[in-house]
Amino acid sequence: MKKQNSIFLFATITVLLFACSKKQAAELKPETPTPNGPTPVTTANVTYTNFTGALFQTKCNSCHGPNGGIKGVWAFNGLASIKNDARVANSVLVTKTMPRGGSLTVSERELLQAWVDKGMPE
Ligand code: HEC
Repeated sequence: MKKQNSIFLFATITVLLFACSKKQAAELKPETPTPNGPTPVTTANVTYTNFTGALFQTKCNSCHGPNGGIKGVWAFNGLASIKNDARVANSVLVTKTMPRGGSLTVSERELLQAWVDKGMPE
C-alpha cells in the first residue's frame, strides 16, 4: 500500500514537471531558437503576421487605434493603413518622432526596417 502511494506521488510530480517545462518552452522569446520550438523571427522571414502587426498593435494602437485620441492624424487599422501611408514608416524609421512617448528596441527597429525594405509582406 505504501509503495503504491509513493509510485502515484512520483507519477504526479513527473506530470506536473512536464507540464511546467512545456509551458516555459512556449513562452520563450522568438529570437531564442529552440530545437523543436517556433521558428525565430529574423530580418529574413519577418512579416506583418509574425511580427510587425503585433508591434504596431503594442506601440501605436493606444493613440492611433479605433479608441485612440490621435486617430484623426493617422488611424491604425491593419496592414493597409500602414502600406498606404508613407508617413508611417517615415515617422518611425527616419524622423523617429513615433512612437510618441515610447521607443523601439534596436532589434525591433532592425526587423521593422527589413520588413519595410521587403515591401511590407503580409
Ligand atoms: C502617446 C501617443 C502616441 C503614440 C503611442 C504614437 N503616436 Fe503617432 N502621433 C501622436 C500625436 C500626438 C501625433 C500628432 C502630432 C505630431 O505629429 O507630432 C501623431 C502623429 C503621427 C503621424 C502623422 C504625423 C507624422 O509624423 O507624419 C503618424 C504617421 C504617426 N503618428 C505614426 C505613429 C506610429 C507608426 C506609431 C507607433 C510606432 C505612433 N504614431 C505612436 C501620438 C502618438
